[in-house]
Amino acid sequence: MQFQWYPGHMTKAKRAMQEDLKLIDVIIELVDARIPFSSKNPDIDQMANGKSRIILMNKYDLADDLRTKQWMDYYGQKGYFVTKVNSKKGTGVRAVQDIIQKACKEKIERDRKRGILNRPIRAMIVGIPNVGKSTFINSFAKKACTKTGNKPGVTKGKQWIRLNKNVELLDTPGILWPKFEDQAVGLRLAYIGSIKDELFNIYELSILLLDYLQENYPEAVSSYYEIENAADSAGRLELIAARRGCIKAGGDYDVDKAAKCLVDDFRAGKLGAISLETP
Ligand code: G4P
Repeated sequence: MQFQWYPGHMTKAKRAMQEDLKLIDVIIELVDARIPFSSKNPDIDQMANGKSRIILMNKYDLADDLRTKQWMDYYGQKGYFVTKVNSKKGTGVRAVQDIIQKACKEKIERDRKRGILNRPIRAMIVGIPNVGKSTFINSFAKKACTKTGNKPGVTKGKQWIRLNKNVELLDTPGILWPKFEDQAVGLRLAYIGSIKDELFNIYELSILLLDYLQENYPEAVSSYYEIENAADSAGRLELIAARRGCIKAGGDYDVDKAAKCLVDDFRAGKLGAISLETP
């Protein structure tokens, strides 16, 4: 399946982010726990230039716990500080404060030796569109501020959210672009809804998703839709169409409608906690 997409104003976004990065000590990068590879952009590595790095496996509620653990170990071994969060519910969000302290331990120590005391750590959230940056910032700011009694928001120049006396967070996240070249990456981004559906043939997308599920989570589809297993993915999609009453005027199955149904259910986590990548 071929598709094309366009970075648009990404050059401008990249330049703006490079400016912001000069101000900060630690980069907090959100990835989608279902696709921790495909939702991570390698360009940030060149821009990060020696800064402390944290990876948050966001939306872990939708991902397979075992694989999330594998990915956390994987990125941990690469030198990142890693934790998992559900920004929507706020689970794991408070722990990020400790991770920031850990990630910046050397810097705090260096400051202390130079006689600089209590200079807050400045952090920035980055990630590709739809990964949950705004949801995380809201949740994080709320939790930190209810704990410390601070009010979020400092209005002058750059907007810094003062989380406590130790940490300030830039309130606008850096938007990273996904890896444009790799078709397999594009496909996984489509599965989770990070690329406009119009760029894909929804039928083909659903067949490929069914193939993947059959191989990796063989019970997921049949148990959610309460259908028997079919010989292949096309057959499975017809069974979903029958179950969901996706029937055209002439009586044929409306497989496009069933495909949309399947993809939406997958994205909403209705088929269970499913990961699309292994380290
Ligand atoms: P962005 O700033 O990176 O572009 O992402 P944003 O925060 O707007 O979040 C994108 C979508 O992801 C939102 O769903 C948000 O609720 C959802 N989301 C964020 N974090 C989590 C999480 O940890 N778990 C789950 N399950 N979902 C998460 P939406 O459908 O656009 O809005 P809404 O209907 O949820 O409000």
